[in-house]
Amino acid sequence: MNRRKLLQLLSKGAAAGAFVKLSGGLAQSKIPQGATDTMKVLGATLREYGERSEFEKDVIRYISPNLRSRHTGADFAPLEKLEGIITPSSLHFERHHGGVPNVNPADYRLVIHGMVERPLMFSLQDLKRLPSVTRTYFIECAGNGQNGYRNPPDMTLTATRSRGLVSNSSWTGVPLSILLKEAGLKEGARWLIPEGQDAAAYTRSLPLEKALEDVLVAYAQNGEAIRPEQGYPVRLVVPGWEGSIQVKWLRRIQVTDTPVMSKDETSEYTDVMADGKIYAFTWVMDPESIITYPSGLQQIQRGFHEIRGLAWSGHGRIRRVEISLDGGKTWKQANLEPAPDALSVVRFKYNWVWDGRETIIMSRAWDEKGNTQPTQEEFFAKWARNNRYHYNAIQAWRIGADGKVVNGDKTLAGAPARLGAVGRGGCGGES
Ligand code: CO
Repeated sequence: MNRRKLLQLLSKGAAAGAFVKLSGGLAQSKIPQGATDTMKVLGATLREYGERSEFEKDVIRYISPNLRSRHTGADFAPLEKLEGIITPSSLHFERHHGGVPNVNPADYRLVIHGMVERPLMFSLQDLKRLPSVTRTYFIECAGNGQNGYRNPPDMTLTATRSRGLVSNSSWTGVPLSILLKEAGLKEGARWLIPEGQDAAAYTRSLPLEKALEDVLVAYAQNGEAIRPEQGYPVRLVVPGWEGSIQVKWLRRIQVTDTPVMSKDETSEYTDVMADGKIYAFTWVMDPESIITYPSGLQQIQRGFHEIRGLAWSGHGRIRRVEISLDGGKTWKQANLEPAPDALSVVRFKYNWVWDGRETIIMSRAWDEKGNTQPTQEEFFAKWARNNRYHYNAIQAWRIGADGKVVNGDKTLAGAPARLGAVGRGGCGGES
């Protein structure tokens, strides 16, 4: 590389020294001399399974106090404490309807039956012998964003509690289409009824068309066996669709000509609209984004900050993420890290110098189909205030002159709404 090219690279985005200046530089007398304590003793020995640093123990999922002793409920991935796009398996959000079953892989069987030429039964080893694919996909609970239904807004909201019911993993498994081809679909087959082997016998209806397109019967997550909370040893991964249809601890798939209308898709996961209509089978997750830094309850200082966040859409690849630094009046384009797959979470970034004045920052995502996120007002023109699912309005963060960051959502006209007042089953998140 020649000198001119190097200088060009160094000056890209900011003047040389611009970032260092903000931290004050380093006086010659402050340059560390001698050895640190850790250099004077031998470190820990080899270990068979890695643990994170003891200094990172506060990076944990958020469990609402009302759900700590329950077997049905959800907890949130700590979005503002994570980098990149992969959610560590140990921090992937959870959603259970009857607790986490302890399935012995030696006894594991998957049965495919119903409208097929040849009913089949697979052991875990059988599944692992078949052609596999590995893809990076987000999984998002249909109830993600449900704190956005609160009116007035919750001023203790964090990025975790705003959108932490989404996680992103590398999933490995067998395409469901291969298993269905082996079984042979009978004339008139239209639906699949996957069932989990948890205490809820969790059951949903999955259209055959989607199953043949890209659904995985997955046994690995981020390179190792799926965690028990995420469906060990085998779960469905249904890319871009609400997490609740991605049946965990999968034991059985019945092929049928009609949906089963199970308790898990009628008492829950239906959507109340502003005109009073209720929709079932709303599976595709609309585009969403969340600024994770700076975000709710964080404290920042004047000067340079890289605004960071996450975006995703169930309709396809994220094409663009925009940032507003003036409460939504004007929008600028953020930089996107390249995503491995279309239905993966994308990391966005934006270089910003905060001048110390009160400001409201926002992000909005655009996907390849041209979908974007509504404002709060636009969202509630369509969706009822007592719904709990599929909230994807733009999240605002208000940065005060003191650098404290809080929820920047507006209080809307109309009846106050809080999740505890909702008489429906809901997603089992916070009350
Ligand atoms: Co839905």
